[in-house]
Amino acid sequence: MWTYACCSFIIIAMIQDFDYQNCIGPLLDWFDTHARVLPWRSDPSPYRVWISEIMLQQTRVEAVKYYFDRFLEALPDIASLAACPEDRLLKLWEGLGYYNRVRNLQAAARQIMDEYGGEMPADYEKLLRLKGIGRYTAGAVASIAFGLPVPAVDGNVLRVMTRLTADDTDVMQPAFRSRLEETISGIIPDKRAGSFNQALMELGATVCVPNGLPKCNECPWESFCLAHLAGRETEFPVKSAKKPRRSEEKTVLVICDGARTVLRKRPAKGLLAGLYEFPSETGFLSPKEALLRAEALGFSPVYIQPLPDAGHIFTHVEWHMKGYLIKTAETESVPRGLILADKDEIETDYPMPSAFSKYTRILHIRLGKKEL
Ligand code: ADE
Repeated sequence: MWTYACCSFIIIAMIQDFDYQNCIGPLLDWFDTHARVLPWRSDPSPYRVWISEIMLQQTRVEAVKYYFDRFLEALPDIASLAACPEDRLLKLWEGLGYYNRVRNLQAAARQIMDEYGGEMPADYEKLLRLKGIGRYTAGAVASIAFGLPVPAVDGNVLRVMTRLTADDTDVMQPAFRSRLEETISGIIPDKRAGSFNQALMELGATVCVPNGLPKCNECPWESFCLAHLAGRETEFPVKSAKKPRRSEEKTVLVICDGARTVLRKRPAKGLLAGLYEFPSETGFLSPKEALLRAEALGFSPVYIQPLPDAGHIFTHVEWHMKGYLIKTAETESVPRGLILADKDEIETDYPMPSAFSKYTRILHIRLGKKEL
């Protein structure tokens, strides 16, 4: 116990003693010459930085560019975001996943309209009080858009900084992030706060990469990095194991009446809330059971064809799906709670999760790619 306490003390003392000052100049010089050209960097207005940061929390930079341009063209400012009808908003987010994030964006836009006359506040604490804005996003907007010297610690920054200092604390501990934020607050340059935070993220995204060997020979911190000097780059960050994901089996029924397909709206709360989907059942159904299900929904099936299996991984659950295409006789009246929509309507009016993209592709429906 005594030995453990002594070791922890020595490691913490080493991390606290680390001389960060020498590292700042080389990092900023590297960022000035290596920063990727990104749409939100050429015009870092608070609204653009905010939208890009929320999108970047769930998708790679290259993929975000397309969604960012489309979103900004449709909703160019906070007022238009605040006023956007929900289905259109979800349609604009289609393909990005984590739909609560775009609902929170809208709730925050409405708060900004009500409380700040439509302008994002240039204040870290006030940004934190907006719906869906946590410490990372508040720090990113405050530093990149307003130049305020506050930290923005994401997964990239955690990795870069734990490698730099060979810090083997479990980064899943909430106290670790607070301590790192304090460290960064103490070293962030007043005049280049936004560049400093972005340089850390950029270094993590392009050089000090996760999964596999980092590109240490391209790193401005090659001669300072304690993990590199000890040949232990891949040992950091240290993360305690996560709870395994729950696994769910489902059968997806793609029921078509001539040119129209049956959809239903998901409940207003929970996973993929308020999005549209094909009807589905828990468990794997046989063709006979699937036909009975289609009848129970109010259709008269004339033909059934098995579709390829599909899978989708969410944060806490993974879906394993079996699918059937069921052709039905012309439906006179649409059963309660269901929608019959043609291909164009699905593309433009009904936001559908990409979890179903294997099945929408069979119907030649492109999710998330249609100009809105
Ligand atoms: N990842 C998330 N936000 C980023 C940013 N502003 N620059 C580089 N990588 C990022």
